[in-house]
Amino acid sequence: MSDLERAADRAAAAVGGWLQHGRAPRDLLAHDAALRGRPAAFRAAAALLVREAVAHRRRVEFALGGSAGLAGLAPRAHGAVLVVARLLELRELPVAAGSVLLRQLGGPDGVDFGSLATAADRTAAIAEPVQRLALGRSLPDWAAQRFVATFGADADAVATALLEPPPRTIRANPLRIGDRDGLVRALAAEAVAATPARWAPFALHVAGHADLFATASWARGEFEQQDEASQLGALAVAPPPGGAVLDLCAGTGGKTLALAAALQNRGRILAVDVHERRLAALRERCRRAGVDTVRALPIDDGPLAGEVAAFARTADRVLVDAPCSGTGSWRRRPEGRWAITAADLAELTAVQDTLLDRVAPLLQPGARLVYATCSLLPEENEQRVAAALQRWPQLEPVRLAEILGGAIARPIADATGTYLSLRPDRHGCDGFFAAVLRRRRAG
Ligand SMILES: C[S@@+](CC[C@H](N)C(=O)[O-])C[C@H]1O[C@@H](n2cnc3c(N)ncnc32)[C@H](O)[C@@H]1O
Repeated sequence: MSDLERAADRAAAAVGGWLQHGRAPRDLLAHDAALRGRPAAFRAAAALLVREAVAHRRRVEFALGGSAGLAGLAPRAHGAVLVVARLLELRELPVAAGSVLLRQLGGPDGVDFGSLATAADRTAAIAEPVQRLALGRSLPDWAAQRFVATFGADADAVATALLEPPPRTIRANPLRIGDRDGLVRALAAEAVAATPARWAPFALHVAGHADLFATASWARGEFEQQDEASQLGALAVAPPPGGAVLDLCAGTGGKTLALAAALQNRGRILAVDVHERRLAALRERCRRAGVDTVRALPIDDGPLAGEVAAFARTADRVLVDAPCSGTGSWRRRPEGRWAITAADLAELTAVQDTLLDRVAPLLQPGARLVYATCSLLPEENEQRVAAALQRWPQLEPVRLAEILGGAIARPIADATGTYLSLRPDRHGCDGFFAAVLRRRRAG
C-alpha cells in the first residue's frame, strides 16, 4: 500500500467507528495504534480525510445516488466509500483507481463513483433552496433552513466555507514570549512557518503539518492552539487592569488563558464549569502557560451560590461562553453538524437563557456580562440577547467600538456595530458571536 492508501485505510476505520458508535472521529484517530510514531504529515493526511468524509457525508451520499445502498453497509465499509469518494473528488486518486482502493479498504463492489461528476449539476437543478443547500453543501435540513432564512443570498457562501479545512491558528502567549513576532522567530528556528492572522493581535496561522506539540516553543508554553474567533471573543471581554473575571463556562480554558494573559497574570479569574475533567485540563494548561491567577472550581447546574455567587457580585466581567450548536466551528468539528437536531437546538436556547438569568441579577453597577457562542444562528445569538435585555432592563449593550476602538471593531462587528459577529466566509475564522452587556450605574 502507498502512504495515501494507508492513510485512507486509517481514515475509513475512524469514520466507520464514528458511524457505528458516534464517537468523535478525531478521538478515534488519536487512539489508533497504527498511527502512533508515524510522521506528522501522514497523521495529518489521515485526519484530513476523516474530516472530509464526515463533513461531506450527506452531499457525497446524494452524489452517489442516495444513501439507501450505503445505509445497509457495515460501518467500516460505509466509511471506506465516503473516504474514497472524497479522494476522487479532491483528485488525489485517478477515477479508475477508486473501485480498486475501495475493495482494498473493505468496501463494497458496484459503487458508481462516476455519478460524482454529475452531482453539482443535479444539485443545481433542485428548485427548492433549502433542499438545494442541504444536499449541495452537506447540511442537516434544520441547519439549511436556518442558513437560508438568516443569510439569504450568502447562505451558500457560508455553508461552503464550513466545508473548507480550517486554518491552523495559535495564540502567542505574552506571559512566555514578548510578542507574536518573537514567536514567529522562535518557531522559524524550529522550521515551522507562521504568519500573523488578520484580526486578533496574538493570532498566528501555521503553515504545513509540523507537529507543533513536539516543538521546544510549545514545551516553553509560548503558544496555545486557539482559533482567531475565540481569541477575538476573549479580546471583547477586555478586563480592566488588575480586574476580577468570572468565567462561567470555562471548559478547558481557551478563553480563560487568553484573559489571564490580557490581565498580564494579575487580577483574579474564577473559572467554573459543570465538568471537572475539563477544569483539570484547564489547570494543567495554566501551569504550562505560566498563569497563576486562575482558580478553577467545578459547579452544579443550578443557581449560582456560595463562593461563585459572591465572586460574581464583585466581578468586573462575567463571561458566559455558552454551550451552543457549534455551527460556527463545524469546520473543526465536522461531526457536530450530524450530532444536533432541531429539538436539541430548542434545549440549548433554554440553557442559554438560564445561564444569562443566573448571572444578570448578580452584576454590580458598571460590571459587564459578555455572552458568547460559536454559533451562526440568530436564535442562539441576537435573539437570546434581545430577550435577556427585555428581562433585565438594568443591562445595556456596549458597542464593540467602545471596547476595541472603531478601526479594529468595524470589520468584525455586526451591521449595527454593536456585537462581535464573525463568519467563516467573511473573516476566515470560525463563526462566532459576542455581546457585551453592562449593568447600568443607576436603575
Ligand atoms: C463553549 S464551551 C466553553 C469553551 C471555553 N470557554 C473555551 O474557551 O475553551 C461551553 C462550556 O459550558 C459548560 N457548561 C454547560 N452547562 C453549564 C452550566 N450550567 N454551568 C457552567 N458551565 C456549563 C460546558 O461543560 C462547556 O465546557
